[in-house]
Amino acid sequence: MANDRKSSDDKRETLISDLTDNILHQATSICEPDDDKNRLEQMGREIKERLTFEANVLLNEAVTRLSPARIYERLAEAPKRTFQRFGINFRLQHALMFVSVIVLIITGMPLKFPELAISKFVVVDLFGGLENSTLIHRIGAVGLIIVGVWHLGYIVISRVGRRDFWLMIPRPRDIRDFFHTLLFFFGRRSSGPKCGRFSFIEKFDYWAVYWGMVIMIGSGIIMWFKEWFPKYVYDIGREAHSDEGLLATLAIVIWHFYNVHFNPDVFPMSWVWWHGKLTEDEMKHHHPLEYAEIVEAESREIIEQKEQVEQAGSGDE
Ligand code: HEM
Repeated sequence: MANDRKSSDDKRETLISDLTDNILHQATSICEPDDDKNRLEQMGREIKERLTFEANVLLNEAVTRLSPARIYERLAEAPKRTFQRFGINFRLQHALMFVSVIVLIITGMPLKFPELAISKFVVVDLFGGLENSTLIHRIGAVGLIIVGVWHLGYIVISRVGRRDFWLMIPRPRDIRDFFHTLLFFFGRRSSGPKCGRFSFIEKFDYWAVYWGMVIMIGSGIIMWFKEWFPKYVYDIGREAHSDEGLLATLAIVIWHFYNVHFNPDVFPMSWVWWHGKLTEDEMKHHHPLEYAEIVEAESREIIEQKEQVEQAGSGDE
């Protein structure tokens, strides 16, 4: 059995090498590149790495789907498998956050740009005056404070929350992935970096919101209860609130809306915020390392189950 596996592994390696040579041969005959040997070797290494990765993922998938174990018969029957990326707790936090932030932006921006006609329309025509619109701003603020406290509890108490928070912490790999992405955009890499549960872009998004909330809530409380603070603290708080508010608004409208609405991959909208699910193709495409980990754990489980069944069978005999 072990010998069989070894010879299959060797054969796969030879096939991958042959396929790599074949791809490079075809590519060089089409584009006739200059004689830069390093570039060719680098390309060869990348193609091999990618083919090996795909072969491993497919091997895991084949084991998963072909296994006679019962749970995997169910999986094989399911034509479109989905992966639960976000649970209900996290989705509710996100929903409360976006409702609060939309309210805060609509009622906050007219205070920063009072001379604009649209500001007058929002404050006077929509909300019926400054008193109402500042009251609604405070209601939105309470929503955001609830989300902040809720999320802190979530990342301390819930097992999934603790795991996700740990995975959100930036690591050296994220810096490598960042440069890898740049090289990919400039055509110096054949594909983008392979991401796990959270890409460096998602981590950036998360920490920007985290940091932004600390500033907005901190400075908002200073303005709300200004009689508690010296004047210079109020002035700093107002400046910080006003500028970070605009930055947060632009980040949401340009950066976040591109990722979740206007990106051609998800246009007109990614519904993950609603159902929390990703399809198998989305998992493979956006989180291949997490996908590989999941299917590997599953195939290991099947093999263990199979071994247990075999052992029980041989015990009966
Ligand atoms: C994404 C979140 C938020 C945005 C975009 C936002 C935006 C703004 C903006 C642009 C202003 C006008 C600043 C100026 O006069 O230049 C403002 C005022 C104000 N904000 Fe916020 N804000 C947010 C969250 C908060 C929070 C969490 C609080 C309270 C904890 C808060 C409390 C206030 C207060 C008290 C004012 C002074 C005006 C008033 O009396 O209503 N804001 N906000």
